[in-house]
Amino acid sequence: MEEKHEGKGHRLILMPTPFQGHITPLLQLAQILHTKAGFSITIIHTIFNSPDPSSYPHFTFHPIADGLSETETATLDALHLTDLINIRCRHPLKDCLATLLSQVDQDPVACFIVDAALYCTQGVCDEVQLPRLVLRTGGASSFLVFASFPQLREKGYLPIQESRLEEPVVDLPPLKVKDLPEFHSLHPELFYEFVCRVIEECKKSSGVIWNTFEELESSALAKLGQEFLIPIYPIGPFHKYFLAGSNSTSLLTPDKSCISWLDTQEHKSVVYVSFGSIVAISEGEFLEIAWGLANSKQPFLWVVRPGIIRGSEWLEPLPSGFLENSGGRGCIVKWAPQEQVLKHPAIGAFWTHCGWNSTLESVCEGVPMICSPCFGDQKVNAKYVSDVWKVGVQLQNKPGRGEIEKTISKLMLGDEANEIRGNILKLKEKANVCLSEGGSSYCFLDRLVSEILSLKSSAS
Ligand code: UDX
Repeated sequence: MEEKHEGKGHRLILMPTPFQGHITPLLQLAQILHTKAGFSITIIHTIFNSPDPSSYPHFTFHPIADGLSETETATLDALHLTDLINIRCRHPLKDCLATLLSQVDQDPVACFIVDAALYCTQGVCDEVQLPRLVLRTGGASSFLVFASFPQLREKGYLPIQESRLEEPVVDLPPLKVKDLPEFHSLHPELFYEFVCRVIEECKKSSGVIWNTFEELESSALAKLGQEFLIPIYPIGPFHKYFLAGSNSTSLLTPDKSCISWLDTQEHKSVVYVSFGSIVAISEGEFLEIAWGLANSKQPFLWVVRPGIIRGSEWLEPLPSGFLENSGGRGCIVKWAPQEQVLKHPAIGAFWTHCGWNSTLESVCEGVPMICSPCFGDQKVNAKYVSDVWKVGVQLQNKPGRGEIEKTISKLMLGDEANEIRGNILKLKEKANVCLSEGGSSYCFLDRLVSEILSLKSSAS
């Protein structure tokens, strides 16, 4: 994409929610606005899960006190932690913004761009009179579901009842009750209230930026545009603006040895398995996955993040000799360079939890998906993968080894596999086109840059 410099002489302040799936797209957005439009970039971040400033020497980083204790962060309860950050970071953020806005020797601040989950920031921005744009790191279709929470509650679809799981959600086809978002938190009652706050504070912002593209989610984007009455900017897929792996946003170190292992595998033969940065599973679920993969007879590259198995540090529950007995068909790593993995010609399918980043990365590389959604937006994303875009299949919740083996065969071999592969290759092409000159994301980015430049920070 052409590089312009209209933003030169203006500064943007950005702040991520401190989880991998949120830090990555926010830093990518900062990089896009810096390289494509010339804005200077300041990142405000919590101490917890702070990004590595050395990967972005051209950005300025400002940590703020988050007040989170080790006991709190050890719960990895993303919902509760995000809520605590909203409460405890309000004052440190206001002080930090006030200091940054008073720096006369720096480029004037055009606006604050913040992850949608940090709902407290609208109030802070109002107080320091700084325009606020929101980045929604998830997809538009799932956000539309979140925006419908009050109506879903009114009509009795929420909270989800076991007896209604198969019932269609009339206003949100093709979703059924079982596809609606849930969140497994130590504080389950928080979810509804949290989502409603996020939506309300988004509506008060100067606009919402999406890591998606119009051709993928046109219907949801159109509905959100009508409902929100503020500009929306689908300018994704963010990671495709750069060469794979060109800037590290990873909190964990990727094990690149798996790429040499992939080099030894046949074209489109490997199942890549990863459930993102937050999902945790039981030892029983882990063992079913292990045996399902082994019995499938397909080669597999499996990311077993330390801590993903509740109660274990890493691979202790795996039967000894498991990899050797799988005939050398398996490779297990703690963290993979996922973008490079999905690009690799040996990859034939991605067994994913359908976090939005993983879903989008798979679409962009034309890799069919096996979906095992767990919480939040993931069930909605999975439904779109299997039933709307038809680029993958769903596995039932907590599948047994037989079901896993059957599903892998279904996606790797046979007629349905070919159809799914054809569908995802078409989407991959659309993802490429949207970023090229005149494409939808290209045009929305131009519009976003103009909008940012027209936002007047009365504080600076
Ligand atoms: C979270 C939520 O779970 C998800 O539902 C929401 O959409 C975003 O925030 P996470 O669970 O981490 O994210 O999943 P995902 O959105 O897929 O993000 C994971 C990121 O980590 C991806 O960009 C992926 O490329 C990267 N990753 C994952 C690696 O680089 N290596 C790995 O081994 C695994």
